[in-house]
Amino acid sequence: MLLIKNGRIITHREIFHANILVNKGRITQITKAEPKADIIINADGKLVIPGVVDPHVHFRQPGLKSEDWNSGSKSAIAGGVTTVLDMPNTNPPTTTLSRLLEKKALIERTNPPLVNYGLHFGAKEDNLDEIEKVVGKTPLAASVKIFMAKSNESLLIKDVNLIGEIIRRARIVCVHAEDEEVIEKFFNMPNHNSKRPKIAALSAINKLIPFANRGRVYVLHVTSLEEAELASPFYKEATPHHLFLNEELMKRIGNYAKVNPPLRDEKDRISLWTALKRGLIDCIGSDHAPHLKEDKEKEDAPSGMPGVETSLPLMLNSSLNGMISLEKLVELMCYNPARIFGLKGKGTLEVGADGDIVIVDKDLEKKVTADELHYKCKWTPYEGMRLRGWPIITIIGGEIAYKDGEFFPVRGREVVYEV
Ligand code: DOR
Ligand code: ZN
Repeated sequence: MLLIKNGRIITHREIFHANILVNKGRITQITKAEPKADIIINADGKLVIPGVVDPHVHFRQPGLKSEDWNSGSKSAIAGGVTTVLDMPNTNPPTTTLSRLLEKKALIERTNPPLVNYGLHFGAKEDNLDEIEKVVGKTPLAASVKIFMAKSNESLLIKDVNLIGEIIRRARIVCVHAEDEEVIEKFFNMPNHNSKRPKIAALSAINKLIPFANRGRVYVLHVTSLEEAELASPFYKEATPHHLFLNEELMKRIGNYAKVNPPLRDEKDRISLWTALKRGLIDCIGSDHAPHLKEDKEKEDAPSGMPGVETSLPLMLNSSLNGMISLEKLVELMCYNPARIFGLKGKGTLEVGADGDIVIVDKDLEKKVTADELHYKCKWTPYEGMRLRGWPIITIIGGEIAYKDGEFFPVRGREVVYEV
């Protein structure tokens, strides 16, 4: 039994002082009393939040070298993330039931610490029969993911009717909403950002609108208020990089700032915060998409940047500076992703919920540096940024997985989907 005492508990609804008792992996008491326990954590002066659920990571196995489930898990756990949902654009991609099962087996062979996980399933032009196998009464995947544009030569679906059909059949569909046809028209533009303009994103969202009543759609990484407004019938995700960085970064760090959809201008970046404050953003997803330095150094470098470990610190720093309330942060990073993807027991602190809990030191101020992060790629676009509010203890299933820089061999599990 584990007791977290004297903490300031933050949920998506309220903030209060209480002690939390965790037994056999679940929260069994939230109380002013002090029940007996074998392990006691004194959280006096600290914040206690539900473990972050990151609905959008690329942990790169099988087949790719820029991350694996060991380095990815450590990065997540040190960043206060206790559950990740992993994307299907691996090599080979997760587009058949047997590959989905192989990926689970591969993850289960990872040495602890292992973060809790769920897997998104990839859609392509000709795998409806495979999609049917994973979306049944007992779902096997977090969602079906559709790329409407190529991103690093990934999966692609151009046929809008097929997209509608997948939306009808799946429990929930995640969409990378950039329009390949628009991107093709901008092929001759001078740089990455102008080759994939905002209108490509708006055009893709427009194509989804007729399917709004057919099923549940989660639009990944919207980059501006305009997109968030247009995508009003759908769930919407924002990434930390679109909230904290703008296209000027390309001048400083070149292709390390190359990502799809691209970083936008400062006006769009600010407008994304407006969208978030107006309640138009449902989730923060890191879109943790690491690439090795040797690949980022190439002229035609792949798109994507790491982010799973800095997502919570960035948002905590903003929240502690008054940008959003701590309850809103928990709603965006814990509660909503768990509810939207139907993750049983996740995203909240209440009796019966899983014992996935993060202790935050709201007064700890540190500079972000890749040397201290756990990414295999060994770089971060936030290098040198000073942030206040860091996770110091991460608990998974009632066991301490990370404390003050040290990891413990705790095994997370695959999530269970509620239908
Ligand atoms: O920048 C990106 N990188 N966008 C994507 O959609 C894919 C991702 C990756 O997997 O590298
Ligand atoms: Zn992604």
